[in-house]
Amino acid sequence: MMQQTASHPAAPQQQDRDAARTVRQPSAGMTMPVELTVNGNLYTLSLDPRTTLLDALREHLHLTGTKKGCDHGQCGACTVHVNGRRVNACLSLAGAHSGDEITTIEGIGQPDALHPMQAAFVECDGYQCGYCTSGQIMSAVALLGEAVGPGDAEVREAMSGNLCRCGAYQNIVAAIQFVRGQS
Ligand code: FES
Ligand code: FES
Repeated sequence: MMQQTASHPAAPQQQDRDAARTVRQPSAGMTMPVELTVNGNLYTLSLDPRTTLLDALREHLHLTGTKKGCDHGQCGACTVHVNGRRVNACLSLAGAHSGDEITTIEGIGQPDALHPMQAAFVECDGYQCGYCTSGQIMSAVALLGEAVGPGDAEVREAMSGNLCRCGAYQNIVAAIQFVRGQS
């Protein structure tokens, strides 16, 4: 006697998951136009929809002052400003920022005209290897406009999303407090 093989169609929930996966995965080579305003300049890029703001800045606009550390929102090396607020660029899709004002470390000062926070980092020895420094400075500049208490402990807390493997924390806080004391 012939044995019948039972068929097991995918459960409805599994079908939903498969469909969602299909929608989320763009086909190879698929791009979309993205307009980004960075440091006052308007750029039109053709990007894979999955491109992060960090990769758009570094790989497409060649603004390599913004660093990639963890690429998972845990180190702060990629901090930029979006409409004046600090953001981890590795956690944000470039395509979500049409119409936003994006500022990178290249946009806040130049070697011959440093931002006061950049000058304070130099003055206070607020860096060693420098890898975290642009993210630290972008966070520190944004902090100046935030409701942060006056003490070092409050500054440390407000800067806790920016890690420094070299342990330059004490001098980073000193630089920030120096600039706060001037304003
Ligand atoms: S690279 Fe974005 S938080 Fe670490
Ligand atoms: S200065 Fe080296 S990681 Fe901060």
